[in-house]
Amino acid sequence: MRKPHKMTRKRASYAQTYIINQQTTMDHTSSGQFIKRRLDDLAASGSGEYIWRPSFSKDYMKAAELLKDWLADEGFRVYVDPVGNVFGRIDGESDRVALFGSHLDTVKDGGKYDGAAGIVTALTAISETVRRVGRPRKSIEVVALVEEEGSRFLSSYTGSKAITGKLSFSDLDEKDSEGISIMDALREAGLEGWKEEAFAGAARSDIDSFVELHIEQGPVLENKGLNIGVVTSIVGLCSYYVTIKGKQNHAGTTPMSMRLDPVAAASEFIVGMTEYTRMVSDSAVFTVGGIRAYPGISNVIADSVRLELDFRDGVGGALDKIRAELRRQAESLEARGFEVIVDIRCDEDPVSLDPDIVGIIDDSVRECGLKYMRMNSGAGHDSQIFADMVPTGMIFIPSHDGISHSPLEYTSEEDLARGEMVLEKVIEKLAY
Ligand code: HGY
Ligand code: MN
Ligand code: MN
Repeated sequence: MRKPHKMTRKRASYAQTYIINQQTTMDHTSSGQFIKRRLDDLAASGSGEYIWRPSFSKDYMKAAELLKDWLADEGFRVYVDPVGNVFGRIDGESDRVALFGSHLDTVKDGGKYDGAAGIVTALTAISETVRRVGRPRKSIEVVALVEEEGSRFLSSYTGSKAITGKLSFSDLDEKDSEGISIMDALREAGLEGWKEEAFAGAARSDIDSFVELHIEQGPVLENKGLNIGVVTSIVGLCSYYVTIKGKQNHAGTTPMSMRLDPVAAASEFIVGMTEYTRMVSDSAVFTVGGIRAYPGISNVIADSVRLELDFRDGVGGALDKIRAELRRQAESLEARGFEVIVDIRCDEDPVSLDPDIVGIIDDSVRECGLKYMRMNSGAGHDSQIFADMVPTGMIFIPSHDGISHSPLEYTSEEDLARGEMVLEKVIEKLAY
C-alpha cells in the first residue's frame, strides 16, 4: 500500500474513524453548493488571466496540492502515483478497488467544470456515502488524472494510460511545444515516473470498475430538459500533426506555374478532408485546430505548414475511412512534389461502455427519480482508456448552452447536486 501523502498515520486513522462514525450527511442543495465552491477555488488557484492547467505545470501542481488537502480533510488516505495521478482512498474490507474520478488538467482558456467536476463530485459522493453507510466492502478510490486533454502533450490520456498499463516508458520522450519531454516535466515536478522501475509502478491490477462523472459538453440534455446522460459509448478520437513541405521562394518573382506552395496545398487538403468527412458519415467530425506556416511572412512562399488535426466518429462509424482518405490525400500531394509528414499522436478507436455498469447507472438514476437518456459521447474521455481493462461507465450532467472548452462553460449547482446524488447510489452498488 502506498504511504499516505504527508498526513501521519494517526490523523489518517482518526480521519477514517471520523468519516465512518460521523452521522451527519449533506442534503443535496448543500452538496451542490459545496461542489461549486470547490470548483471555484480550483479555478481561482491558477495564476493566469484564464484557466489553463497543463499537466505538471506550477498551476497544475498547485491545484493538485489543494485537492490533496481536501482529500485528507475528508479522511481519505492520499497518495500520488509515479506519473502524478493523485488518489484518495477509503480502505474497504477487501483490497479490490472501485475507482471514480476524472482529469485535473484543462485546455488553454478552458472552463471550471471539464474534468474537475468529476473529481470533486466523486470526492463528495464517496465521503457522503461512507458517512451514511459505513466501511465499504471494496476499497473506494477517487483519482485526479493527468494529461487527459493533450493540451500540453498531444498524445493525451497519459494518466489513464499509465494506470491501465498502456503507456510505455519511451512514450515519456514526447515533447511539448517548448521542447520539454514528459520525462523532464515529471522530474521537474518532483515525481518519480522518470525513473524506469518507479514508472512501472503506475500500472494497476487491483481495480474492478471505473465510473466517471463528467459534464456533457454538448446541448442535448439541456435542450431535452433532462437531468442525466447515461453514456453507452465514446467516440474514437484521432489527433494528428500533418506537416506539408513545399519550396520556399520569393512571393513577387516566382510565377504561379512554378510554385510549390505548401499553404495553398494545405488549403486544398483541409477543404478535401472536410468535404469527405461531411459526405462519409453524419456523425463524424473533422477539425483543423491549428495552422502554422514557416517562416510565416507575407512576401515569402512558405517552406512548410504544420496542421493540428482532430477527427472523430462513434461506434460503427467511418473513422477508418477517414484515416484512409487522409493517407490518400497525402499521397496525391506527394505525387505533385510536396513532402507530407503525418505524426500520429493520439489514435483511439470508439468504445462501447460496460452494459452492467450502464445498467447500474440507469437503476441509480431511476431510484433518484431523475429524467435521463442513454447517449454517446462526442468528447473523448479517460473512460475510453479504462473501458477495455475494467468495467467502465460514465454519468453526464448538463452543460449550459452546451458550451465547453471555454470560460463560458457552466453547470448549475442543482445539476452538480443531482450528479452527486446518482453517484452516491452507484458507489453503494459497486463498493458495498
Ligand atoms: O477533446 C475532447 O474531446 C476532450 O475534452 N479531451
Ligand atoms: Mn474532459
Ligand atoms: Mn476537455
